[in-house]
Amino acid sequence: MLEKLDDLFTSFEKALEEKLLQADVLNLKSEYLGKKGKVSEVLKSLKDVSLEEKKVIGPRANELKEKMNQMVAKKLSAIEIAEINEKLAKEKIDITNRESVQALGIKSGGYHPATIIQREVEDIFLSMGFDILDGPHIEDEFHNFEALNIPADHPARDMQDTFWFQKPTGENSYLLRTHTSTIQVRGMTSRKPPFKFIAPGKVFRCERTDASHEMVFHQLEGMMVGEDISVAHLTYFMKTVLKEIFKKDMEIRLRPGFFPFVEPGFELDIECQVCKGKGCSVCKKTGWVELLPCGMVHPNVLEAGGIDSEKYNGFAFGLGLDRLVMMRYGIDDIRHLHGADLRFISQFRTY
Ligand code: DAH
Repeated sequence: MLEKLDDLFTSFEKALEEKLLQADVLNLKSEYLGKKGKVSEVLKSLKDVSLEEKKVIGPRANELKEKMNQMVAKKLSAIEIAEINEKLAKEKIDITNRESVQALGIKSGGYHPATIIQREVEDIFLSMGFDILDGPHIEDEFHNFEALNIPADHPARDMQDTFWFQKPTGENSYLLRTHTSTIQVRGMTSRKPPFKFIAPGKVFRCERTDASHEMVFHQLEGMMVGEDISVAHLTYFMKTVLKEIFKKDMEIRLRPGFFPFVEPGFELDIECQVCKGKGCSVCKKTGWVELLPCGMVHPNVLEAGGIDSEKYNGFAFGLGLDRLVMMRYGIDDIRHLHGADLRFISQFRTY
């Protein structure tokens, strides 16, 4: 019997070696070690042998069974590792290789057009020596209105429909900033003239949306303060930026405009790039698009920022970044920018 057991073990060992699939290994296991397997078959005649022999055969049989089980476990895990390795080798992706990524049907991401334009404009201003500032979305009345020469009850507060946070008592407290001009004050109080900075970011207005109005949109505030700053400085910087963005000299026009924080104030228009000046829904058939309100900083605003308005002056502007995006790419509806429609967004990949 011992010999038979040893023979079984040898043939098991050989058969196991040849198996390459987990299922085959499991079948082999039940063929030998199962209830009706070959080992049990041999051990059936254990009842016919003497007690002495039983004492030898029993432990030996257990030892072999144990060994066979271990071999099966080892083989199974070896097959598993081999399968994983094979899969890894087959599915290896070189993520630095565009074709290899696209072949798998994986779409790589890209930047939102508003981000692309914002970064581009930031780079242009950085190259001209402007700092880039940031500010909070949730603001107080001081930064959004008062410091900008818009006291409480001033009719200009109605120019911008504001999202207010209410105190439990029902009075208005904080608000979502309606413009990036809030950062003018923050920028002035933290530096000494001469200085120039821009401040890009989201702004919020509680108003009806249409092709050219959104409740959330992007502005880029700009401010330069020093001695003897003039409108010529303002138009110089604006023309330079527009030329860089549109890669050509841009037609602009200045119209008088009222904003409490500048005096004089202007509206800077550029030729509509959607219709090339012919007139369309974006430019309300005028051929011009309001791109940039701007002006010479009001002395009250300089003073609120801790700056001596007798000695210093400056210009400020509030660039409508979304308008610029629309002009640059010929987009006819601002709502696309927040629509999260991949068919739209995926047109702006920058790799
Ligand atoms: N804050 C104004 C708005 O959102 C835009 C603006 C106008 C900003 C004139 C300026 C400026 O800096 O000089 O309507």
